[in-house]
Amino acid sequence: MTATKPRGYTPGQLTVHADPPALHAVTRTLKGAGRRIALVPTMGALHDGHRELIRHARLAKGASVTVVSIFVNPLQFGPGEDLERYPRPLEADLEMCREEGVELVFTPGVEDMYPAGADTTVSPGALGDEMEGAVRPGHFAGVLTVVSKLFHVVAPDVAYFGEKDYQQLVLVRKMARDLDFPLDVVGVPTVREDDGVARSSRNAYLSAADRPRAAVLQEALRAGASVSAQGPEAVLAAARAVLAREPALELDYLELRDPDLRPDVRQGKARLLVAARLGTTRLIDNITVQLEI
Ligand code: PAF
Repeated sequence: MTATKPRGYTPGQLTVHADPPALHAVTRTLKGAGRRIALVPTMGALHDGHRELIRHARLAKGASVTVVSIFVNPLQFGPGEDLERYPRPLEADLEMCREEGVELVFTPGVEDMYPAGADTTVSPGALGDEMEGAVRPGHFAGVLTVVSKLFHVVAPDVAYFGEKDYQQLVLVRKMARDLDFPLDVVGVPTVREDDGVARSSRNAYLSAADRPRAAVLQEALRAGASVSAQGPEAVLAAARAVLAREPALELDYLELRDPDLRPDVRQGKARLLVAARLGTTRLIDNITVQLEI
């Protein structure tokens, strides 16, 4: 073993680790040798949105080793959610990682991340109970718990999260700050399909008939953003009017907030966020809105 080539790491090749201490030893050694570590946390079923996260990680200045974690985290699924049917195409995921030049993939089992008796969790604070958290109680405690564990295992210098899950991005950034994780949390803009639908592993659940209905979410957000000069009420009304045209969409929330998701934003940069159900599939999306100063 040399300082830059620890056991369990071969430069230019993909190595898969399932054991947290083994991966930790590899990243510690690489860091000790002056390499920066970039982490892309995922639940697998990788699509072009993840590819974009990986590319940001690979191309970031000085981020010389990229770790992609693939772990369907049971803690962030509520009762009746899609934990069992969540897609797990591991071979295809590894192929994408290889194509993108990823060198380390972390695929722990549930018992590796949550050994018997592990019941300590990270509490997300008040924002964790709003919007997604109001519809999915406990979801963000599950997300923050697994992300904090991934931060400890991988010890990244930088971690990449998609802006599609905007509330998750804000909460992870806040956790990193509040709990003194020494890393940068970087948000990557949402990748969209040709019809405007935000890329998501859950799009696989949509029927052909549902696809155009799903696209209405993005149309509503764009309609809202297009009248931003007229103020927050106009933004919300324009988005609501488009959503109302699609009766199959059951709206969970439509919110206009500041970039840190504080409510009652009146001017400057804001975020318009929507969540709706199409049958049993939940869809979320968001967009930046520039309100008149
Ligand atoms: O966004 C996701 O895929 C998950 O919430 C994450 C961040 C990998 C934690 O399980």
